[in-house]
Amino acid sequence: MTTDSTASRTAAVPLPSRLRQVLSLDDFERLAKRHLPRPIHAYISGAVEDNASLAENRSAFADLAFVPRTLVGVAQRDPGFELFGRRYSAPFGVAPMGIAALSAYRGDLVLAQAAQQAGLPAIMSGSSLIRLEDVMAAAPHTWFQAYLPGDQAQIDALLDRVAAAGVQTLVITVDTPVSANRENNVRAGFSTPLRPSLGLAWQGISHPRWLLGTFLRTLLRHGMPHFENNYAHRGAPILSASVMRDFSDRSHLAWPHLRAIRQRWQGQLVVKGILAAQDAVLARDHGADALIVSNHGGRQLDGAVAPLRVLPGIVRAVPDLPVMLDSGVRRGTDVLKALALGARCVFVGRPFNYAASVAGPAGAAHAMALLREEVLRDMAMLGVTRLEQVTAACVRPARAWDGF
Ligand code: GLV
Repeated sequence: MTTDSTASRTAAVPLPSRLRQVLSLDDFERLAKRHLPRPIHAYISGAVEDNASLAENRSAFADLAFVPRTLVGVAQRDPGFELFGRRYSAPFGVAPMGIAALSAYRGDLVLAQAAQQAGLPAIMSGSSLIRLEDVMAAAPHTWFQAYLPGDQAQIDALLDRVAAAGVQTLVITVDTPVSANRENNVRAGFSTPLRPSLGLAWQGISHPRWLLGTFLRTLLRHGMPHFENNYAHRGAPILSASVMRDFSDRSHLAWPHLRAIRQRWQGQLVVKGILAAQDAVLARDHGADALIVSNHGGRQLDGAVAPLRVLPGIVRAVPDLPVMLDSGVRRGTDVLKALALGARCVFVGRPFNYAASVAGPAGAAHAMALLREEVLRDMAMLGVTRLEQVTAACVRPARAWDGF
């Protein structure tokens, strides 16, 4: 049980001065926009085409209102929950984010270690620039998210590597049959690999803290970053005039591939990117142990429904499976709204990436502490002491009238 407050935490570990004005997750975005070269900030912040799903992810949370209960005695509150036999300190974790080590120095390691220290789940992206084995050595409970290579032999080789690295929880992302139409990346000069140009050089020079503290520091200490974890073997470098990143064609992947993965993979299997209740049932029937309801932070099919809106139907369709959610979570209130509609926990992406980018491990830890404290405070005002008490009775449509 815990009732710690921002004041007691900041008194124990003084915050770096840059973080004193960071009072919410969105505050990191403003700092990151100044800190990061424009193409890299655009890659993280952007979504796809008209950003319809990106906006809708936030509106869905706004369309739900709390109905708090009062005078129930909430001095002792516990925001912890259990999943796959492990207890976590709060019902949120780090969503997988590609190339996090380009925006933050050793980004994947920083996020995984900060989450482990805070007692939170973290999912490492397969589209990452640090070897999975290094992250697992530093933070052994990290989950790994794979983008499946195109053919079964390569899938099998990747699964064997992931198992040998000690991963216990594998997340398969299923909403990327083809590359999304990221017009914002093209407009901002972002590509993978990044192509050297005068414009890119200027972006580096005009963001010296990032250039020295992230990019050159990485080059000097670890060499040119490569895509390390899309396959069993190393992939393309992040900066190259000629190399094409090897985007596997995943358009032919289908449910039998998931069944084959289930047969080979001994650990927990999580399917991420489910929005249809029928797919939730299929995922369960093909061996998934849990689901993440997600529209990929609005980064794949523009106009895809906000995960929060389909969550109740999915929870009803697979009552025996833990169902989690990502896309648009920014506040403790968002976390509790998702839990009220049946999510076991949620994942947060961009804000944690920004936090690690602008202030490394201290930034990541601060972001996680801020969100946990929001959850804890909001639980009190909602009138609950444990997450099991956060049910559909705690919320209602924000704009419906009573009593007419
Ligand atoms: C990677 O998952 C991305 O959305 O860019």
